[in-house]
Amino acid sequence: MNQMADTSLKNVLLTGATGVLGGRLLQELLLSTQCNVHCLVRAKDEAQGLERIKEVLFAYDEAGLLSNQVNRIRPVLGDVSQPQFGLQDSLYRDLAGLCDMAMHCAANVSLVASYAKIAPVNVGGVANVIEFCLAARASLMYTSSFSMTGDKLYEPGFVLKESDLDVGQGFEDMAYERSKYDAEQLVHAASARGLDWVIVRPGNIWGDSVTGCYPLKQTKVKGIYYEMLKSLVETGLSFPSDEDFDITPVDYVAKASLFAMLNLPATRHCTYNLTNPAPITYNDIVQQMRRFGYRIDEIDTKRYFEAVQEGRMMRAGKPYRSTFTDLMAIFYDGSDCKEAAKYDTSKIEALLSGSNITCHACDHNLMQRYLDYAIKCEFLAPPKDQFPLAQISDASVRGGGYMESLYDADLSQLKQLSEATHAASRTA
Ligand SMILES: NC(=O)c1ccc[n+]([C@@H]2O[C@H](COP(=O)([O-])OP(=O)(O)OC[C@H]3O[C@@H](n4cnc5c(N)ncnc54)[C@H](OP(=O)(O)O)[C@@H]3O)[C@@H](O)[C@H]2O)c1
Repeated sequence: MNQMADTSLKNVLLTGATGVLGGRLLQELLLSTQCNVHCLVRAKDEAQGLERIKEVLFAYDEAGLLSNQVNRIRPVLGDVSQPQFGLQDSLYRDLAGLCDMAMHCAANVSLVASYAKIAPVNVGGVANVIEFCLAARASLMYTSSFSMTGDKLYEPGFVLKESDLDVGQGFEDMAYERSKYDAEQLVHAASARGLDWVIVRPGNIWGDSVTGCYPLKQTKVKGIYYEMLKSLVETGLSFPSDEDFDITPVDYVAKASLFAMLNLPATRHCTYNLTNPAPITYNDIVQQMRRFGYRIDEIDTKRYFEAVQEGRMMRAGKPYRSTFTDLMAIFYDGSDCKEAAKYDTSKIEALLSGSNITCHACDHNLMQRYLDYAIKCEFLAPPKDQFPLAQISDASVRGGGYMESLYDADLSQLKQLSEATHAASRTA
């Protein structure tokens, strides 16, 4: 297989370059190809757009090795949810005349927003990118998610194959999951109109496996997994869970996605599960953090979640809350429902065999790199400064609103969800 060597590629449209994955993909495009990268970005003018893009790019490229490649980045001020990205006809036509490929990463990644709120970006945006690719005769990489598996996540023995799409999954819990599934359907339907596409389904995207870098300060959404680490460190409390917990390094997702696109037509109309082929469990993550030096005590699951829901997890005299605990409070319903799905990665492994692209194992070295980086960015306190830890109080001190930072949430909807959850747990 071709090893990142398609020199015919001249111009690529990239969406989401100010995000976690898009930023790392931009770095990969600049490193591994000669092409110009037209980045669709939201900003007041091109100069600000370029600054926003550079902020994330150089969060990954800390040494500034790509400083002399910035001239290959072309900011295009636009919005994926708008027809023609909101561009003037002539600009849109010029862009379509140039681009050979589109790599679409932009999305609203809120886990709690309603379908009405995220569909214009996550589904409508994909429809707009498809129209662009057809007009440009460009191939498309669409970034879906392993969460398109919907409620099959909870079905014991279920394995999501890369060729699977409609497996009878439902999407009661999360509009985000449904939006990724609906968008995959749109991409498939565009085959009949002559579109060449590849779909990638990343797992939980964590930092770069070589440097540990993750744009913790430069992106709007930090990522729930890093919020989870922060809550574990700040509270020193956890609950037991032997469910699989995917950790997929961002460099693997970027390299594997680009490799698939540079190896069209062999990969044409293929979908790849970009999850870690060797997942670990949540318990393993907690154990790795202890090994790093953090104190994390395990308490009973019901006790943990009820304390979070009722504002009885106290730290330094105040109820502890974070994006992670707020989300947990919403989704915990006291049931024994466990995440059980597995993800088949045999097609991507076959594609990458013979290349030098591999997914780093979720081992102690990787976690150490991630924690070192998060400490360096002052996102996490180092083990010696972890204190005071949280304690569970028996007195209920409920109250207070949800965090405004909670993933672009529809707060009124969240409150209803939360009230329903509390009511259910009270009657259970
Ligand atoms: N993170 C994960 O663990 C994960 C896992 C599986 C799949 N994915 C998928 O991977 C892709 C990238 O995710 P991410 O984690 O990199 O997300 P992210 O950090 O939140 O970045 C989202 C990007 O999309 C852009 N965007 C949002 N709405 C837009 C609009 N209307 N017009 C133009 N740009 C818009 C954002 O621009 P602004 O900076 O202007 O907001 C940002 O650049 C998404 O498709 C996501 O569903 C992510």
